[in-house]
Amino acid sequence: MDIAVIGAGYVGLITATGLAEIGHRVICVDDDLAKIEVLKSGGMPFFEPGLADLVERNRQAQRIEFVPQIEYAVADCQVIFICVGTPPLENGEADLSSVEMVARRISACARGYHLVIEKSTVPVQTGRRLRKHFDIYSSDPDSPCDVASNPEFLREGSAVEDFFHPDRIVVGVDSDRAARLLEEIYQPVLAQSFTCPVHRDCRKRSPVPFVVTDINSAELIKHASNSFLAMKISFINMVADLCEAVGADVGKVAEAVGMDKRIGASFLRPGVGFGGSCFPKDLQAFVRVGQKAGCDFTLLREVERINEKRIDLFVNKIKNELWVLRGKRIGVWGLAFKPRTDDVRCAPSLAVIRRLLAEGARVRAYDPEAMEKAKVEVPEIEYCTDAYGAAEGAEALLALTEWEEFLHLDLAKVHQMMARPLILDGRNMFSRATLTGQGFEYVDIGSRTRAHI
Ligand SMILES: NC(=O)c1ccc[n+]([C@@H]2O[C@H](COP(=O)([O-])OP(=O)(O)OC[C@H]3O[C@@H](n4cnc5c(N)ncnc54)[C@H](O)[C@@H]3O)[C@@H](O)[C@H]2O)c1
Repeated sequence: MDIAVIGAGYVGLITATGLAEIGHRVICVDDDLAKIEVLKSGGMPFFEPGLADLVERNRQAQRIEFVPQIEYAVADCQVIFICVGTPPLENGEADLSSVEMVARRISACARGYHLVIEKSTVPVQTGRRLRKHFDIYSSDPDSPCDVASNPEFLREGSAVEDFFHPDRIVVGVDSDRAARLLEEIYQPVLAQSFTCPVHRDCRKRSPVPFVVTDINSAELIKHASNSFLAMKISFINMVADLCEAVGADVGKVAEAVGMDKRIGASFLRPGVGFGGSCFPKDLQAFVRVGQKAGCDFTLLREVERINEKRIDLFVNKIKNELWVLRGKRIGVWGLAFKPRTDDVRCAPSLAVIRRLLAEGARVRAYDPEAMEKAKVEVPEIEYCTDAYGAAEGAEALLALTEWEEFLHLDLAKVHQMMARPLILDGRNMFSRATLTGQGFEYVDIGSRTRAHI
């Protein structure tokens, strides 16, 4: 099938490449000319494990092309995925101006039948608005158009795997034709019948559930899923604070709580809180949706509040150890909002760093992938070429993103390089026994504090 994907960001590029890999011909559009030039010349606009090779293979095979003009893609493709950003407005609502802009341009040039699929995360009833938009603005009244919702659940850092092996594919439709087209598009993924570019042998994988629903429900499924995951994180962070206060170990608590199949182990790791381009904004947007509909979403406001407090609590821990921050050299391991990505949007690490800078501390940081993007956000700190550079002369090291490589460092070397061998673990990624065994002072989140030992 010929498919247009509008937006070549984290979601658009992965969707476009995945669809090309399973046999479709894809035109990927972005209005950022620099991004299109990078992609056309074989480069990558961001880091995502496994993606660069996949893009290159499909580009070489001419199954994917990158262009800046929507009109070109719409003329060639019956199916159009909208994957543009929906950042938060001042009041927390999703800014849908890019979605609307794309819809305008589609309606101005579409001839014949089109299926327009919202893959961007949008508030419930956006599909209804798009439907109305096309009814009003279509330049060709004889061009029927279906609108569908197909929310994206990929996780940055494992997005390629998530495209090929999703937990479910959700589609919200209001016509059989749209449902049939979407099922056809995703058939190889649903049946797991493609040659997997991620694993050597995936043939034993079970078919992927295909959830067909109305458009409102599909839109709501995405916001509800992200809000629930954010709620789990804030819940365990709340429990972590209690563990610290009363002298219990949140690691053990979370482990045993997570063994209950009704709860599940994932997203029960305490830390400096959630960030990224999705959870904070989707939570805010969902709260606004609830408010506008007259529903009580106080629960989710608390989830947000607990998350915002994580930065204060962590900075207080640092001050508790270092007393005065002015003039102190502090090393930071990890800048990305999570490991295996270079995305620093709403990264808790940057929030912590900004607070340290405001208090006069000198910060030296290292991240395996995210330094270029972090430099744009926080140019005033020193960026190091490796994790040891961040440790050099530091009076404290903060672990703020749980990159695997930090677990394999030469701890004796780190210890020797630091002015004071103190590690504050904002992700509970290290073993207390290992670090204290090597002579470090170690502070994590939610363990029995020194006062209780
Ligand atoms: N990043 C994630 O992990 C993730 C996961 C699931 C859902 N989502 C949702 O997917 C959407 C996109 O997220 P993202 O992280 O890919 O954003 P992004 O900022 O990385 O990418 C958006 C892209 O759209 C392009 N764009 C904007 N307006 C355009 C226009 N008028 N015409 C053509 N291109 C245009 C931008 O230049 C940019 O490259 C958001 O709604 C987000 O909430 C993101």
